[in-house]
Amino acid sequence: MLNKFRLRKKQNTSSTLRDKIEEIKKMPVPEHIAIIMDGNGRWAKKRALPRIAGHHEGMKVVRKTTMLANDIGIKALTLYAFSTENWKRPKNEVEYIMKLPEEFLGTFLPELVKNNVQVKMMGYKDQLPVHTLRAIEKAMEETKNNTGLVLNFALNYGSRAEILDAVKQVLNDCKNGILEETELNEQVFSSYLMSSTFSDPDLLIRTSGEIRLSNFMLWQLAYSEFWFTDVLWPDFNEEHLLEAVEVFQKRQRRYGGL
Ligand code: IPE
Ligand code: IPE
Ligand code: MG
Repeated sequence: MLNKFRLRKKQNTSSTLRDKIEEIKKMPVPEHIAIIMDGNGRWAKKRALPRIAGHHEGMKVVRKTTMLANDIGIKALTLYAFSTENWKRPKNEVEYIMKLPEEFLGTFLPELVKNNVQVKMMGYKDQLPVHTLRAIEKAMEETKNNTGLVLNFALNYGSRAEILDAVKQVLNDCKNGILEETELNEQVFSSYLMSSTFSDPDLLIRTSGEIRLSNFMLWQLAYSEFWFTDVLWPDFNEEHLLEAVEVFQKRQRRYGGL
């Protein structure tokens, strides 16, 4: 009896979710969503668990979020997984986070492949441990011909460094006659950034109640819609993502016009 009730409850939940998804699909969805996945440590602390338990839980949320984003027709999902400033954290925490790509991709890569998801990465590769980079490069290679959602991990990513490097590259190209100063415009400059193959995010989500960018996509987010929630990343679920998209669909983007 109890099992039957549980089953019915489960079916009801998923059918409500289905209805919501259908509703959302009637209107244009954001092409590119970027998420600052924050609050793993606090989630763990609330449960008297080590911070790394929060990161592990957060990894499962990445899977669910990716699948739903793919399902509703989002073209790109950029997830801020590790910033250039996060190296300041205790060694054991950093080491644990650097193992997560292997664990995540080791478990979910077949599912990503099956669902036509393409894996990409944006960030400074040189400082990453070999095992971390290897896992990501394997996933990139295996999914390179997929045409569904692009799942872009921002790993060892920092926006100021990215912009500075782009400026240096531009100067270099001008010096070497590859680029004329007069040719440089916003579109050309964007092509020097790590996000060059992506359109700017339409929607930025940050969890955990912090209202800041923490060095994330400063150039690219110039005209994005922002959605903040107090929910900690490991508690973020399908309902929250759909809510953010729903709010986005009600916003009027003006880009400085009327
Ligand atoms: C986000 O969660 C994950 C990373 C920055 C790697 P945090 O680890 O920042 O969690 P809080 O903000 O301390 O709760
Ligand atoms: C931003 O979160 C980086 C990631 C989510 C990967 P942080 O937790 O590092 O940001 P601050 O320190 O609160 O600004
Ligand atoms: Mg944080």
